Amino acid sequence: MAVKQSTSPKMRHGDTSWFVQDRFGMFIHWGTYSLAARHEWVKNHEKLTQDQYQKYFDHFYPDLYDPKEWARLARQAGMKYAVLTTKHHEGFCLWDTKYTDYKATKTRWGKDLLKPFVEAFRDEGLRVGFYYSLLDWHHPQYTVDRCHPQREDAEARKLNAKKDMKIYAKYMRDQVTELLTKFGKVDVIWFDFSFGGDDGKGRDHWESQKLFDVVRKLQPDILIDNRLDLPGSGDFVTPEQWQPAKPMTDENGKPIVWEACQTFSGSWGYYRDELNWREPDELLRTLIDCVSKNGNLLLNVGPTGRGEFDDRAQSRLKYIGDWMHRHGRSIYGCQAAPPEFPCPPGCNLTYNPKEKRLYLHVLNWPYKHIHLTGKAYVEHLAYAQFLHDASEVIMGLDSWHAMQQGGSARKDSVSINLPQMKPNVAVPVVEFFLK
Ligand code: GLC
Repeated sequence: MAVKQSTSPKMRHGDTSWFVQDRFGMFIHWGTYSLAARHEWVKNHEKLTQDQYQKYFDHFYPDLYDPKEWARLARQAGMKYAVLTTKHHEGFCLWDTKYTDYKATKTRWGKDLLKPFVEAFRDEGLRVGFYYSLLDWHHPQYTVDRCHPQREDAEARKLNAKKDMKIYAKYMRDQVTELLTKFGKVDVIWFDFSFGGDDGKGRDHWESQKLFDVVRKLQPDILIDNRLDLPGSGDFVTPEQWQPAKPMTDENGKPIVWEACQTFSGSWGYYRDELNWREPDELLRTLIDCVSKNGNLLLNVGPTGRGEFDDRAQSRLKYIGDWMHRHGRSIYGCQAAPPEFPCPPGCNLTYNPKEKRLYLHVLNWPYKHIHLTGKAYVEHLAYAQFLHDASEVIMGLDSWHAMQQGGSARKDSVSINLPQMKPNVAVPVVEFFLK
C-alpha cells in the first residue's frame, strides 16, 4: 500500500498531573486467548486460522468474573488506576460494540464485560484506562503483514489486494468513539502498537492523526500513550519489559513522563504453564525503581478464562500491598531526588517535593551505618525516622567515620545509625524531613 508520511502541526496534551502522583497502576490482559492459556499471541505464534481459533470464542464463559474483586485486589495492592484490554490483537471486544459481532455479548456468556469493570473500579476509587489494539487479526479488511498469524500463507496474502485498510481505520475510529462516549470519563487510552518498516504498519495505516483527533475531541484531558507512530502525540512513553537506567528525557534533555509496563512472568495473557514468575520482592523493587526515576509502573495481571486472578498473581499483589500499606508515602506524589542528594550504594531514593521529604529505600541491609555524602545532606536534613513505624533514626555529622579512615572531621557527609538487624518489612525506608 502506498503510504504518505504525515506529522501533525499541533498536538494537544492530556492532563498528566494525577498520573505523576499516582505512580502505580494495574494492566489487565483478558480475552479469548485466556482460554488457550499459553500467551496472548497464541494465534500468531501457532499461525492459527480463524477457524482454528474459533473454539476459544465458542467456549468463552467467564462465570467467576467479579470486577469488584479485581478492583479490591488492585486497591489493596496500592494501585490507583487500571488499564484493561478492551480489544487485543485477536480482535475480540469486551464491550457490546455495534461494529462487530466478535464481542463478549455474542459469546455463550452473552454479557458486556466492560461496563461492570468501569463501574467497579470507579467505585473502588481507581481511575480507568482502556487498552485498544491497533492490530486486529480478525477484521476482514485488516491486511496480512509480518506480525499476522497468516504471514506465511500465500493465499491469505493474495487477498490483501482486495482489502481496504481505510475501512479498518474507520472501524477503529468508530469503536474508539464508542469507548470514549459510552463509559463516562476515561483517564487513559493505551493504543498498541506500531511496527514500521517492511511489511509493517504505522501511522498511515492507522490514520493515526485522525484517530488522535477523535480521542482529543471526545476526551480532552485523557492521556494517550506513544504507540500511534505519531511524533509528538504521546502524553507518556512506554518502556515495556525493561527499566530505564535513569530519569527519561526527550532529545533535548527535558524530563518526560513515562510508565514502564511489566509482567509477572513474561506473557501478558494468562499462561498456565509459564513457571518463571518474578519474585514478589523483585516486583516491589521495580516499583521503587520507577518512582526513583520519575516513572510509573503498570503491572500486569492476566485473569483466567473463568475471570479470576490466579493465586500466583494474588499472592504477589498482596505482598506489594502489605508493603504499600506502610510505605505508600515514599511512592505517591514522589519523584527522583534532586541531584544534590546522591544516592548511597545499595539504596534507592525518592523525593516528595510538596512535603519536602526524602525517602531512602534500603535495598541491601548494611552493617550499622549508611553515609550520606554531599553538602545538601549536611545542610538540609532535619529529622529522620523509619517510615513503617515512625521510630527515630539517629543521624550525625560524620566525623567519627572520617577519623576511622585516618582523616579529620568531615563536614560534607552525614551518617545514620541503623539497627543491626533489618526491620521486618520487605524494603525498609528512612524518611528524612528537610529544612
Ligand atoms: C506488546 C504485545 C502485547 C501486549 C503489550 C503490552 O506490544 O504485543 O501482547 O499487550 O506489549 O505493552
